[in-house]
Amino acid sequence: MVNKWMSSSLILLALVGFSVSAKAGDINKGKALYDRLCVYCHLTTYDDKFGPGLGGILQRRHKPWLHNFLKDPVEMTKTDEYAKNLKENNEYGIRMPKLSEMQDKERREDIIAYLETLE
Ligand code: HEC
Repeated sequence: MVNKWMSSSLILLALVGFSVSAKAGDINKGKALYDRLCVYCHLTTYDDKFGPGLGGILQRRHKPWLHNFLKDPVEMTKTDEYAKNLKENNEYGIRMPKLSEMQDKERREDIIAYLETLE
């Protein structure tokens, strides 16, 4: 018989298991998000489109920076020197938008896992 205590522990275990597996980020989910939210402005190579090419981005930027930037690029282009330069050097005048879907940490983990595969 599964009593109340047991079932809540099982739920807890499932949640812990889930957050551990979600931590690394899911490359396939990340690619799906990227294809929907980012391709309009970015290429996965080193060539610029409306924004800089994202080839090798994990060699230029570390993960905490990427989290902050994806969460609020508008704020970052005001407060972070590197992001400020990106904005000033962008000849198209299009800005990286703050996206509601990028307010979710897990989604950012997924996108970053995908970005990590770009060489
Ligand atoms: C409307 C166009 C647009 C969209 C959509 C967009 N970006 Fe950007 N992105 C830019 C621009 C422009 C910059 C340069 C900074 C600026 O001017 O705001 C940038 C900069 C970046 C950078 C820093 C690049 C570097 O070389 O350091 C990363 C990383 C990035 N974007 C990732 C993404 C991801 C991931 C998505 C999708 C979730 C996305 N962007 C969606 C336009 C866009």
